[in-house]
Amino acid sequence: MTRDRVCGDIRETEIGSVITIAGWVFRRRDHGGLIFIDLRDRSGLCQIVFSPDVAEDAHEKAHGLRAEYVIAVTGEIRKRPEGTENPNIPTGMIEMYVQKLEVMNEASPLPYNMEEAAEAGESLRLKHRYLDLRRPEMQKNLIMRHRISKITRDYLDEKGFLEIETPILTKSTPEGARDYLVPSRLNPGHFYALPQSPQLFKQILMVAGLEKYFQIVKCFRDEDLRADRQPEFTQIDLEMSFIDRDDILLLIEGMMKDIFKKVLDIDIETPFARMSFQESMNRFGNDKPDLRFGLELKDMADLAGQGTFKVFLDALNSGGMVKAINGKGMAGLSRKEIDNLTAEAQSFGAKGLAWIKVKKGFDSPIAKFFPEEVLKNMAERLQAEDGDLMLFVADKPKIVYDVLSRMRLELGKRLDLIEPGYKFVWIIDFPLFEWDEEEGRFQAMHHPFTSPVEEDIEKLSSPDTDLSKLKAKAYDIVLNGYEIGGGSIRIHRQDIQKKMFGRLNISDEDAKLKFGFLLDALQFGAPPHGGIALGLDRLVMLMVGASSIRDVIAFPKTQKASCMMSGAPSNVEMKQLRELHIKTDIVLEE
Ligand code: AMO
Ligand code: AMP
Repeated sequence: MTRDRVCGDIRETEIGSVITIAGWVFRRRDHGGLIFIDLRDRSGLCQIVFSPDVAEDAHEKAHGLRAEYVIAVTGEIRKRPEGTENPNIPTGMIEMYVQKLEVMNEASPLPYNMEEAAEAGESLRLKHRYLDLRRPEMQKNLIMRHRISKITRDYLDEKGFLEIETPILTKSTPEGARDYLVPSRLNPGHFYALPQSPQLFKQILMVAGLEKYFQIVKCFRDEDLRADRQPEFTQIDLEMSFIDRDDILLLIEGMMKDIFKKVLDIDIETPFARMSFQESMNRFGNDKPDLRFGLELKDMADLAGQGTFKVFLDALNSGGMVKAINGKGMAGLSRKEIDNLTAEAQSFGAKGLAWIKVKKGFDSPIAKFFPEEVLKNMAERLQAEDGDLMLFVADKPKIVYDVLSRMRLELGKRLDLIEPGYKFVWIIDFPLFEWDEEEGRFQAMHHPFTSPVEEDIEKLSSPDTDLSKLKAKAYDIVLNGYEIGGGSIRIHRQDIQKKMFGRLNISDEDAKLKFGFLLDALQFGAPPHGGIALGLDRLVMLMVGASSIRDVIAFPKTQKASCMMSGAPSNVEMKQLRELHIKTDIVLEE
C-alpha cells in the first residue's frame, strides 16, 4: 500500500500517530519558514505542513510542488494551534507535519485554475474532464449517482425483479426521436438502430414469462439537446406482468421513498398527488407542473368575451383561448420593463402580451375596452390585488399554454416564489393520441404499444370515433417541474395492437416490417403487462441540485452532441467506409 489512510477521514483521535497519505496538491501557501498544502483525495482534504525543523529535505523539495502534483507524505498528526482551526472541513482540527515526501507524478501548468473552475467556461472543463471530475462537487455528484443506482438495484431485487440486458445493436423503436444508425459490414446497405429505449424487448421478456424485468440502461436519441437532454442517457427501465396501473405507481413511490431516505435522509410523503393531464394543462399550461409554487393560469375567455379588445375577440372567434397569470407585486414595472417582458413572451411564440396593472383602479392601454365590472372580475379570478400585474395571452391553445407555462416558470424564479423541497406528482389520464400539426395526422402520445383505457378499447374499432377523445393507460412521474419518468399498461392482445397500428396509419406491411417480432410474440400467450422508465440522469440532477444533467454524467456531450474530450464524432478512414459500402458527398480530411 502506498498509503495507510485517506485524507478526509483523519480526526483528532489520530493526534500523535505517524501515518502515510497520498493525493493531489490542491492549495499551497508559503508562510515564511513553513509551507502549507491542502492535500486532496476522493475523501476530502487534509492540511499538511512542511517545516525545516521536522524534515529539511522534504521542506526543500516542497518548494517545487505545484498544483495537481501527485504526492505521498508520511508524517505526524498534530492538533492545529489555537486560532488556526477550520471548522468548515471535517479535518479542520488537525494537520500533518511531514517527515517524508515522495513525488509520484508531476503536472503541467493547468489550463485553468481548479479553484475557479465554475468560471472557467464549460467547454474548457469538458475538454479536460479529468480535471473537472477531480472537483469535490463533481465527485459528490458521481458518488450520489452510484448510490441511487445501487439502492435502486437492491430495491428491485428485493421485490423479485431480474436485471436482464437487452441488445444495443437492434431495430428502430418508436419513442419519437431520430435514431442513431450503425451500418452493418456483413449486411451491406443494412443498418442497426441504437435503442431509443428497450421498449419492445422488455415487452417480449414479459411474453417470455420473466414476469419482472428491470435494467439500468443506456438509451440513444438523436434529438435537439437541452439542459435536461443528452443524446445518450440512462433509464431505470422496468416491466411487470399481471398488474395494473396502480401496482406500478405504488412500486415507484416506494422506490423514491427508499432512495430519498437513504441518499438524502429525506422522508418523502406518499402517496404522491395525482393529476389528470387536462387539469395539469388548464392550471399550469404543461404536463410537467412544478408544484412548488402557485401562479396558476386562469381561463379568461368568458370575461375577455365581454369586452371589445380585438386581439382577444379574434382569438376567441377563431377557436383560440385567452388565459392569464398574476405577476405578483409587479405593477411597479416601467413601460420599458414591460416591453422586455413582452419580448420574452414573443420569444416563446406569443404575438404579444396584454397587461393590466392593478393600482387603485386599472392602469392599462387595454382597460378602456372593458367595463369596470369585468376588470374587477378579472382581478378577482386572478386574486390580483393592489400592486399586481395581470398578464394575458390570447392565441391558439398550444401557444397560450406554451407561452404562459414558460412565463410562469420565469416569474416564479424572478419573484422568488419557488419553495425548497421535492414535489412529486403523477400525471394520469393522458390522451391516447395527439394531433401532429406538421404531419397532419394523429400520433401516439406515448408510444403505439400503450393500451387505451378499458372503456375505450371498443371505440378504437369504430370509424366514427373522435380519436382525440380516447384516453390511455399511461402515466408520467413529475418532480419539481421535470418529467422524470413515464410508462403505461401495454396492449397485450395482437388484434388490438393491429387496430392501434391501423389508427396510426401504419400499414399492415409496415407494422410487420418494423414490429413484426412483437406482433408475432403477442399471438403466443402474452400476459397483461406494463411498466415505466425513469430518467436516471434527471433524477440525480434534481437530487444533487445541479442545473444540467451534464453535471451528473461523467462524460457528457455538448449541445452539438460532441464529446469535447475524445473529439467524437470524428472522421474515419476511407477504407472503413468502403468496407461498410458507405459513400459520402462530404470531403473528409484524411
Ligand atoms: P420516455 O420516452 O418517456 O419513455 O423516457 C423515459 C424517461 O427518460 C428520460 N429521458 C431523457 N433523459 C435525458 N435525455 C434524454 N434525451 C431523454 N429522453 C427521455 C425522461 C423520461 O421521462 N419506453 C418508454 C417507457 C415505458 O413506456 O415504459 C420510454 O422510453 O425522464
Ligand atoms: P396591439 O393592438 O397589437 O398594439 O396590441 C395591444 C396590446 O396587446 C400590446 O400590449 C400587445 O403586446 C398585446 N397583444 C398583442 N397580441 C396579443 C396576443 N395574441 N395575446 C395577448 N396580448 C397581445
